[in-house]
Amino acid sequence: MKRTKVIDALKCTAYGSDICVKGWVRSKRGSKGIFFIALNDGSTIKNIQIVGEDANFQEETVKRITTGACLSVIGRLVESPAAGQASEIQATAIEILGDCDNTYPLQKKGASWEYLRTVAHLRPRTNTFGAILRIRHNMAMAIHTYFHEHGYFYFHTPLITASDCEGAGNMFQVTTKNLYDLKKDEQGKIIYDDDFFGEQTSLTVSGQLEGELGATALGAIYTFGPTFRAENSNTPRHLAEFWMIEPEVAFLDQEELMDLEEDFIKYCVKWALDNCRDDLEFLNKMIDKTLIERLEGVLKETFVRLPYTEGINILQEAIKNGKKFEFPCNWGDDLASEHERYLVEEHFKKPVIMTDYPRAFKSFYMKQNEATADGGSVGYKGAVAPGPTMQGTDVLFPSIGEIIGGSVREESYDKLMAEIERREMDMTHLWWYLDTRKYGSCPHAGFGLGFERLILFVTGMQNIRDVIPFPRTPKNAEF
Ligand code: 4AD
Ligand code: MG
Repeated sequence: MKRTKVIDALKCTAYGSDICVKGWVRSKRGSKGIFFIALNDGSTIKNIQIVGEDANFQEETVKRITTGACLSVIGRLVESPAAGQASEIQATAIEILGDCDNTYPLQKKGASWEYLRTVAHLRPRTNTFGAILRIRHNMAMAIHTYFHEHGYFYFHTPLITASDCEGAGNMFQVTTKNLYDLKKDEQGKIIYDDDFFGEQTSLTVSGQLEGELGATALGAIYTFGPTFRAENSNTPRHLAEFWMIEPEVAFLDQEELMDLEEDFIKYCVKWALDNCRDDLEFLNKMIDKTLIERLEGVLKETFVRLPYTEGINILQEAIKNGKKFEFPCNWGDDLASEHERYLVEEHFKKPVIMTDYPRAFKSFYMKQNEATADGGSVGYKGAVAPGPTMQGTDVLFPSIGEIIGGSVREESYDKLMAEIERREMDMTHLWWYLDTRKYGSCPHAGFGLGFERLILFVTGMQNIRDVIPFPRTPKNAEF
């Protein structure tokens, strides 16, 4: 008999017909010669109830129906007398596909997040991780659909690279060489000429630089793939391997870039509300009672567009009024997460797109604002900053912090070269990048959205390790 998925069986109203479902036992209880099984096959957060009479089955079979066991059940679909479910199955045949004894690590309900990370190979079978993983899939579909519908092309950028996009140096090296066997020159520098690629290579931290090659040919592209950062930051917001979405668009200015960032995030959130209702309702009940309200709230908000300089002014004002921060926030300082949270969660109480950052802590490729006569530069909406700023546009979200990092790119060859020289960057491996500014250069802009940070927001989860099936963090690459 053909198997019916639980999600379809629960919707089916062909009462009286025979049906076959397969899945894993969530729980079993029994009384007065009747047993009840809650069976789940992952197609939905909901279980289907299987009802059987002990007398109709071998005692041995009934005993083997334990939490976690995998079953194939054939029975009659009937309208359920129990509240909260439309249908159930009166079992006529049960086959145990896989036994599960009492050493099963998901025996007890209410296990801690920390414990569940140690059994990441099995945690997708819990209600919460089932919900998160279905939402994760849906967000990926939302992203592809958004860009496809808006005329962007999915552009595949390499994972192995000889260049460092962000220039932060937090890269994992790729080599086939035996590390005991490295060749070095007279200065002790490693020679890579006999390594696989004949030069030093790493896992990419961002597909942006190659994405710009796509955008300046196809007009609008996006990437969606894994990125790798060897930053030793053991926080609830950082992974060593995470997924990033990077649209890159020709002829886009800063204002339009911010429109895109806002529209795109709202589209994804709306997609979750429209397509993941059961899972969101489960998470709203079990994890975070304000989740759905918060998601609906974001759709109604207009994101604040705040030049860095104005942000600093607000923070300075707060300090004057008695607010205490651990880290300094004078003009020119990189904002710490406490500063971002103050602006987003306490001051504005809505998402903020911060713009026009001092170039000191931003990347070389960002578009430089005009310097003014007093040595400052004109930021967004005329705010005057005491120093050259760059057209970065980061989106800051409540409880997440930075969810998007983006910018307009410097399209002038001369200005870009001046910045590269100022930073004393070695451009040997980026000659091709400079060619975009040499041949038919054009204004363009783009951003990177951390996929897991989006999933954190949409699920209400607190730790980034719990929104990806198998997290990679310092000292942890199990599974
Ligand atoms: O701000 P970032 O470093 O920007 C870039 O890499 C640009 N090249 C993107 C672009 O303009 N095309 O990273 C972008 C986003 C961050 O805002 C954050 O959401 C996420 O990537 N991110 C991380 N997510 C999880 N773990 C980490 N270690 C992350 N580092 C960045
Ligand atoms: Mg950033």
